[in-house]
Amino acid sequence: MATEKTFYLETFGCQMNAHDSEKVIGTLRQQGYRQVEAEEDAGLILYNTCSIRDKAEQKVFHRLNDYKKLLKQGKKFGVLGCVAQQEGEKIFERAPHVSLVCGSASYRNLPQMLKGLEDTLPENQPPEPRSSKLTAQSLVRITGLDDRETDECFETEFTARTNPHRGYITIIEGCDKFCAYCVVPFTRGKERSRTSDSVLAEARQMADLGYSEIQLLGQNVNSYKDSAGKRSFAELRAAVGEVPGIKRVRFTTSHPRDFGRDIIDTIDAVATLCDHVHLPVQSGSDRVLNAMQRLYTREQYLERIAWMKSAKRDISITSDIIVGFPGETEEDFAETLSLLDEVGYDAVFTFKYSPRPNTPSLALEDAIPDQEKSRRLEVLMARQREIQITRYQRYIGETLEVMVEGRNNARAQWIGRTSQNKTLNFTAPATAAPTIGSYVPVRATGSFPNSLLGELVV
Ligand code: 5AD
Ligand code: SF4
Repeated sequence: MATEKTFYLETFGCQMNAHDSEKVIGTLRQQGYRQVEAEEDAGLILYNTCSIRDKAEQKVFHRLNDYKKLLKQGKKFGVLGCVAQQEGEKIFERAPHVSLVCGSASYRNLPQMLKGLEDTLPENQPPEPRSSKLTAQSLVRITGLDDRETDECFETEFTARTNPHRGYITIIEGCDKFCAYCVVPFTRGKERSRTSDSVLAEARQMADLGYSEIQLLGQNVNSYKDSAGKRSFAELRAAVGEVPGIKRVRFTTSHPRDFGRDIIDTIDAVATLCDHVHLPVQSGSDRVLNAMQRLYTREQYLERIAWMKSAKRDISITSDIIVGFPGETEEDFAETLSLLDEVGYDAVFTFKYSPRPNTPSLALEDAIPDQEKSRRLEVLMARQREIQITRYQRYIGETLEVMVEGRNNARAQWIGRTSQNKTLNFTAPATAAPTIGSYVPVRATGSFPNSLLGELVV
C-alpha cells in the first residue's frame, strides 16, 4: 500500500510570501498531499523563506538545524522563497539534508519537482542494499531557480486561502526599482503584471465563494501595467471594487515614485476602496533618499501626502522607515523625525539597516554601530507612539463600520477591523452577537496607540 503523502509548510516574511504559500499549499493538495501541523508528522518539510534582512534569513537555517534529526526517519526537506532564490545551491552545502530548493518564480514547476522527489522515496527505490551512509535518497537535490527572468506570474486555480472572508490576489510580481538596500529585485526577479481580466476573473470567483475583502498584492503595485493594455492600476482597483459582493479592496505595497493622483481620486470615487494607503518613505532626508536610490525627494513625497490629505475621505497613511543606512548622520535622522511630525502617520514599520547580498549598498561601509541603530530605532518608535496616541483619539465618539475578524473570549470582546485598517475591539450584547466575517457599526469609546475600543451600535 502506498504511504500517504504529507507536508508541513512554515512561512516567513511578507504578505507576498503568505499568499505564495496559499498557492503552494493548493498545488501540493492537488498533487495528493495532505497538510499537517507539525514537522514530526510530515513526509515533506517545507520552509517558505524571507531574506529581506539578515535576521529573517538566519531563521530558516536555525529551523533546518533544529529538525535535521528527522532526516533519519526518511523525511525530505525543501527551502522555498527568497532565501532559496538568493542562496541557491549553496543551501545544499550549508544544510546537506535539504533536497529541494525553489525560488518563487519557479513554483509553477513544483508538480514536476515533487514528482522528482517522490521518485527517490524509499518505497519507490529498488531494494538493493546501499553501501554508502549517504543514500541516493538523502542526496537528491532538485532546484528551481532559473526563472527570475520569466514573463509569467505564478497563477493557479488551486490556491488554498486560509481566511474565508478576505483574501489576497497578486497583480504584479517582481520589482525593477533596485533601491540600494533591497534584495527583492534579486529574489523575486523582474516586474511582470497579470492581465486585469485575469485579476477580475479571480475577484469574481472569490466573491462567488463568499469573500468580501480583497487585498491586491505586489512589490510595487503602482507600476502595474495590464499586459493586455485594458486598465490602469487605478482602473483595475475601481473595477475590483465594483465586483458584486466585494465590500473592501486594499492594496500593497506602493512606491512613491509611481504613485499617481488617480489612486486617490478612485478612493474618493469608489466607496469599496479602503481609505488607507501604505506609502513607504524609508527616510526623511534627501541625502539619504538619494543614496538609497529611491528616485524621489522629500518634497515629492510630501506632495503625494498632500494629495491624500486633500481627499474627500479621511485617508489613513502608514509607512516603512529604515534607520542607520550607510552615511546617515544625526542631521539626516533628525529630518526623518521631522517628517513623522509633518505627515502624522497612523502606523510606521521601522527597521535597522541590514546589508544584503547583491545589493548596491553592500559596497558602502555599514559603519553605524548596531547600538546606534538601536538607539535611533527607539527614538523613532517613541516619537511615532506619541503621534499615534493623538491620531487614534480622533475616532472617539465616531461610529465606524468594522469587519468582524474574531472573538477574544478572555476579554469578552469581538475583534473588528476598520476600512482604515485599524483594529477596533468591541463589546456586544449576547442577544446581538455578530458573526465572523460580517460588517457591523461600532462606536469608538476609547483609544490606545495601536487599537481602538468600542461598542456595537445595536
Ligand atoms: N535593511 C533594513 N530594512 C530593509 N527593508 C528592505 N530592505 C531592507 C534592508 N536591507 C525594509 C524597507 C521595506 C520593508 C519591507 O523592509 O523599509 O519597505
Ligand atoms: Fe522577504 Fe522581500 Fe521576499 Fe517578501 S519579497 S519574503 S519581504 S525578501
